[in-house]
Amino acid sequence: MPSELICFEPACRARYAITEVLYNCPKCGGLLEAALSPPEQDPVALKRLFRARRMCNFPLDQSGVWRYRELLPFEDALDYVVTLREGNTPLLEAPKAAEYGGLKKLAFKHQGFNPTGSFKDNGMTCGATQAMRLKMKRVACVSTGNTSASMAAYASAAGLQPIIFIPHGNISYGKLAQALEYGARTLQVEANFDQILALVRVLAEKLGIYLLNSINPFRIEGQKSIMFELMDQRDWNPPDWIVLPGGNLGNVSAFGKALRELKEFGFIGRLPRLAVIQAEGASPFADFAASDHTRFVPVPNPETLATAIRIGDPVSWPKAWREVSASNGVAAKVSEQEIADAKAIIGLCGIGCEPASAATLAGIRKLTAEGVLDRDADVVAVLTGHLLKDPDYIYRYHTGQLAAPGGAPIRSTYGNRPEVVPNDPERIAALLG
Ligand code: F0G
Repeated sequence: MPSELICFEPACRARYAITEVLYNCPKCGGLLEAALSPPEQDPVALKRLFRARRMCNFPLDQSGVWRYRELLPFEDALDYVVTLREGNTPLLEAPKAAEYGGLKKLAFKHQGFNPTGSFKDNGMTCGATQAMRLKMKRVACVSTGNTSASMAAYASAAGLQPIIFIPHGNISYGKLAQALEYGARTLQVEANFDQILALVRVLAEKLGIYLLNSINPFRIEGQKSIMFELMDQRDWNPPDWIVLPGGNLGNVSAFGKALRELKEFGFIGRLPRLAVIQAEGASPFADFAASDHTRFVPVPNPETLATAIRIGDPVSWPKAWREVSASNGVAAKVSEQEIADAKAIIGLCGIGCEPASAATLAGIRKLTAEGVLDRDADVVAVLTGHLLKDPDYIYRYHTGQLAAPGGAPIRSTYGNRPEVVPNDPERIAALLG
């Protein structure tokens, strides 16, 4: 049976053709997701095929997303694929970070190795492909920076016009620079992410522009491949825990869906538990998880230096909650200081990441201290963005100039100041000893 769109709401479950331009269910307003039939080939044969494709020069096989195309809703649409050879990101052991996090061992799945430096590329290749399949001309998104960088690249690669909306003054220059260089029409709106998303939804409808935020179910489908590739890299042995940062909560929705599908289709025997980590100033999901689950309360003015996850009213929270519950997972929040120090430790592993990604290690440290995570647990943390996305933050941290949104200074616990020296070999030699 061909893939379809299906309403996420259990009481509705209305179905729509995969080629309808929809972001919410027209009947009940619920979120939509792609419904896939089990692949025709058995898991053993497919695992072998996925592995063999890594040796091929065919563009779709070289992509760490399209290599797993039997698990994506694009059966009859492969001619439309827009790929920059995304995915193919490494799984890196990090002993120093493991020790800091209170674990015996820890591996990072580093999505910063993607073409535009974040996990958004895994989703955007599918979003842009769907835009081509639907014969769209213009695509739009609101973004805290990474989605816009990614969308700009994929749209321009495909010959679509990218239009991005960003919160004025609240995204890192690295990300803004990418959008400009990739040719996006860039509108800096004087509002926060949540307010701009409402605005963009109205404009997309009115102007017939295709919306590529993670409310778009095809973005979520693409991000599933992060889990496919991770399991492939681990020879299909699931870890005990997968830890990731949470903002608009698209990624946790994608990971959960991917893992459930892998289990349902017979690729893995059990589900890893999901741990979603948020920044204290933007933590509606962690607060919801800690509540009696009767009401989701958005944060009206979210604040964090990890600007990628500065989101107070995450659209995908119902999907995210389903996935966290289905995996017997958890959600937690960490402070600005904890994020900053964890980030420096990830740097000291020779790995590095942007601030939002470091929430993972800060969360792991907290969850092991609380006894939620076992010291012996097999844990993979997903680093979502590249270190160079936000160099300003790094310079400030290492030189003792970083301050939390309210102005409170952040200690440069693992600071590494550059030193100014004279052009004098004797004195430099004396300094280096
Ligand atoms: N980490 C990074 C580096 C991000 O850019 C984002 C989201 C997240 C984590 C959170 O992922 O939203 O799926 O829970 N960035 C979006 C953007 C919102 O516009 O680039 P999520």
